[in-house]
Amino acid sequence: MERTFYVTTPIYYVNAEPHLGHAYTTIVGDFLARWHRLDGHDTYFLTGTDEHGEKVYQAAAAAGTDAQSFTDRISRRFRRAWQRLDISHDDFIRTTEPRHTGVVRQVLQRIYDAGDIYRAEYEGLYSVGQERFVTDKELVDGKLPEDAAPPERRREINYFFRMEKYQPWLIEHLERNPDFIRPAAYRREVLGMLREPLGDLSISRPRERVPWGIPLPWDAEHVTYVWFDALINYASALGYPDGERYRRFWTSARHLIGKDILKAHAVFWPTMLKAAGSPLYHSLIVGGYLFGPDGRKMSKSLGNAMDPFEMAQRFGPDALRYYLLRAVPYGYDGNVGAAALAERYNADLANDLGNLVSRTRTLIVKHLGRRLAAPSQSAADQPIIAAGTGLPATVREQVRGLKFNAALEEVMQYVRSLNRYFNDQQPWRLAREPESRARLATVLYNVVEGVRIAAALLEPAMPAKMREIRAALGLGPVAFAELDRWGRTAAGTELPETAPAPFPRVDVRAAPADAKPAPAAPAPAKQEGAVAEDSAAEKTIGIDEFARVKLRVAEVIGAERVPKTDKLLALRLRLGGAERTVVSGIAEHYAAEDLVGRKLVVVANLKPVKLRGILSEGMILAAEEAGGRLALTEVPRDFPSGAEVR
Ligand code: ME8
Ligand code: MG
Repeated sequence: MERTFYVTTPIYYVNAEPHLGHAYTTIVGDFLARWHRLDGHDTYFLTGTDEHGEKVYQAAAAAGTDAQSFTDRISRRFRRAWQRLDISHDDFIRTTEPRHTGVVRQVLQRIYDAGDIYRAEYEGLYSVGQERFVTDKELVDGKLPEDAAPPERRREINYFFRMEKYQPWLIEHLERNPDFIRPAAYRREVLGMLREPLGDLSISRPRERVPWGIPLPWDAEHVTYVWFDALINYASALGYPDGERYRRFWTSARHLIGKDILKAHAVFWPTMLKAAGSPLYHSLIVGGYLFGPDGRKMSKSLGNAMDPFEMAQRFGPDALRYYLLRAVPYGYDGNVGAAALAERYNADLANDLGNLVSRTRTLIVKHLGRRLAAPSQSAADQPIIAAGTGLPATVREQVRGLKFNAALEEVMQYVRSLNRYFNDQQPWRLAREPESRARLATVLYNVVEGVRIAAALLEPAMPAKMREIRAALGLGPVAFAELDRWGRTAAGTELPETAPAPFPRVDVRAAPADAKPAPAAPAPAKQEGAVAEDSAAEKTIGIDEFARVKLRVAEVIGAERVPKTDKLLALRLRLGGAERTVVSGIAEHYAAEDLVGRKLVVVANLKPVKLRGILSEGMILAAEEAGGRLALTEVPRDFPSGAEVR
């Protein structure tokens, strides 16, 4: 039987343009959808826009347009953004569509008929920004931290859903289904919420105050609360309650959300479904926040959001997709920025992957008449073959565990081992001797096979670029089923005459002001896409070249955090008789006060740059682990500062 996989993103409010936070969740959704399609699941991927409610109504009024044409316009922007980012959704739902509003009224009527809706007067504080009632306890300086404006006091007649009645049932459901909410920390958070009485849920607004919404079936003077309306999109898009798609996909539904909307999805939604007599979704997959350059949750209302169009324009959509998946361990909060993207791009995509493809292609074109030949493997080839055939299972396990960053890093590590293999086997030298022809063909065949496996596993993250790489190497479409079989590529496979360099290097220094200095050594300089056959020689340098880099011992005599940054420390250094300042991105790893007195290694003749208004003269060296851990390079403290490091 074919396994089904239905994945949804939140439907985004159309009060503002799409930003990088929305793009992040949608890219994760697309990654999962593409992964499961390639993995043979019957997959359905839904996204869309949330168009009712006070927030949208007010935004339309502020724009001087009627709500419907306003939502039409912004909803189109979201569609265009997803097109630009190569999002492969099967459907895009809008909550103003009749196929949705009809289902909302049906669900309301079911719950009303079951006796779980009543009318009452209510008084409370309402946040329009978050579209929910808030408690005094949540307020900091009179407002929610994530809002720009304070909540408003409301006293009015509402209809209420008897949510609290389902609290014991929900607790039991969560306890019996440890994977209902992942990562597990969010499940614990919900169980924590459920230790307090839930209260009932206000599900309507008086129409005279909020005319923009779905009228209640039994009382047209009230419209449906935007959250009650919005959650139902996941079911209405499939043709609830008896559509073919609904029957096929519903119980496999994975709702991908940000942690800001956990309660609505983990508490409102399952109790609503239960009350309506409908089966539950499969599970929630919860992500953390991307922070803006100011260290706060990126959001339109705080004005610190980054524009995904602009990022995709500069680096290409695939590089942005890769970066977001790779930069932030899923489920956690993370800092992102254009400078870090540029660095990641150059290191992983241009250097490690793009360059390998170009070098391999060049040799096949030049020395093998553009055709792969049957390999005759030797002992030296076994490690790369074993690592390649073992890779899919490891990566699959990581994707299953929502460790997307680790999954991508695993593939990149393999790509790096292919580079080492290439460099060790020195195919450009094998090409010089006719008697080593067979060996040359074997080495190049193996690199292509390795790239085939790596590119297939990277396909859900970078669909267009992996298509390009496959084309450049003459490879056919991806088949996950046969991924762990070495030798699937046929001898005789022909490469095209020309192919573009998949990832031309970008200029890191051209990155805008959120730039952070590289804590460790920057990626090796200049490596053009299509490089000469002996380009491996570029990876080794002569002693005179190394001697141009002046490394010296520097004593830290002062350190302080650069204001308004999370990562930067300004270090005052002594080098023999002279002093200088170096700005370094290590604040998340070292406390300023722990640094004074240490003897570090500094690149002393690096061209000075201004960072956050501070002139940084040099760079300190640190080792960086794949997981981001840093360790400064130190020499014993009794060593004199200024001493040369060679
Ligand atoms: O809440 N970091 O819509 P919304 C990471 N319409 N993800 C972010 C983010 C950030 N800084 N900012 C936004 C709504 N997101 C409702 C949803 S669903 C039935 C209704 C992502 O436009 C994240 O996925 O405020 C978050 O949950 C979602 O956008 C909220 O989008
Ligand atoms: Mg929001």
